[in-house]
Amino acid sequence: MRILVLNGPNLNLLGRREPEIYGRQTLSDIEGLLRGRANDLGVEIAFTQSNSEGALVDAIQAHADWDGLIVNAGAYTHTSLAIADAIQATQILTVEVHLSNIYARERFRHRSFLAPIVWGQISGLGYHGYLAALDALHRRLSDRATA
Ligand code: DQA
Repeated sequence: MRILVLNGPNLNLLGRREPEIYGRQTLSDIEGLLRGRANDLGVEIAFTQSNSEGALVDAIQAHADWDGLIVNAGAYTHTSLAIADAIQATQILTVEVHLSNIYARERFRHRSFLAPIVWGQISGLGYHGYLAALDALHRRLSDRATA
């Protein structure tokens, strides 16, 4: 089972970026936690972070035959039809994650282009959201494999 973790713009700044909103963990802290959990579950995991929309689309296309995707598209969540189209085109089972609760913030963050086309969304659990997404994908994909 192969799962890609994709992080969008400014998430490379985690730890320093508005820690009261996004937490004190760096992206590499979060990736380390996910790597450990993936190891326990026997899941192959890979990480990509980019600040550019096209690179995120390219990463999704390059992993089209992978089993699952955990995506935090950052601000592109609220603007990017291209990222939503890439996920829909590949049909990869996807969980959308946001560290902050986007529905408790500015109105422009309430709309996600991804939400209507992903399996599910986790918003507001901080870095725990990524771990919850990994567990959920692992369970769902395991169920699928035995069905
Ligand atoms: C975010 C929420 C977005 O609105 C914001 O632009 C981000 C991070 C989150 O993880 O809470 O960059 O996706």
